[in-house]
Amino acid sequence: MNLYNFIKVYNTIPKKVCVNLLKKFKKVNYRRHQWQNNGIVIGSRKEEELKNYDLEKKEQDTLVPFVKEALNKYRDEIYQENPLINYSNDKNDPFKMVESVSPFRLNRYDEQSNMAVHVDHIYTIFDGQEKGIPILSVVGILNQNYEGGDFKIIDKYLKFKTGDILIFPSNFMYPHEVTSITKGTRYSFVTWGY
Ligand SMILES: [Fe+2]
Repeated sequence: MNLYNFIKVYNTIPKKVCVNLLKKFKKVNYRRHQWQNNGIVIGSRKEEELKNYDLEKKEQDTLVPFVKEALNKYRDEIYQENPLINYSNDKNDPFKMVESVSPFRLNRYDEQSNMAVHVDHIYTIFDGQEKGIPILSVVGILNQNYEGGDFKIIDKYLKFKTGDILIFPSNFMYPHEVTSITKGTRYSFVTWGY
C-alpha cells in the first residue's frame, strides 16, 4: 500500500455553486484561525494566519451533496484498489467509511497568509453534541484565481481547480500545510468525515 494512493481529488462542485457561495463569503465576518494542542490555544503570527467562518446551515446544505458524492467515490475507489480493507457486507450504505460530516468551516487566505504544517487528528470539532474522531479530511476548493497557496501533503505539492474536493486520512501519517499566498485570496472549506 502506498500512502499517496489514499489522497484523492474529485471535481464534484459545479463552478456556478462556487461562484454564488463566494459572492456571499466575501461579505461575511471572519475570525482569526486558532487551534488547540493539549488544551492550549495556538495561533500563528497574526499577519500570516488565515481566517475562518463557520458556514450557516443553508450554505452547508448547498455543498453537502457534492461532498457526499466525493466521499462515495473515494470509498468505492479505495475499496476497489484495496480489497483486503473492504470488510463491509453492506454495499448500499452511503457512509460506510464515515457516518457523518462535521460542521463546515470556511478558510480564507489573504495575501501572505498560510497554514503551518499539522495533522488533522483533532478533537475540538467534537466539543458539542457530536462525538467521534476524524477519519477523513475533506477540503473543498472554491476558487483558483490566486497565486501561491499550494497544498503540500507529506512531500507532494498539489494544485487545485475550482470545484475540487480533496480527501485524505486525518491521521498522523498525513502532515500537510498551505504555502503562502503570493497574490489574490484563496477560499476553501473544510469538514471532517467521522
Ligand atoms: Fe488540516
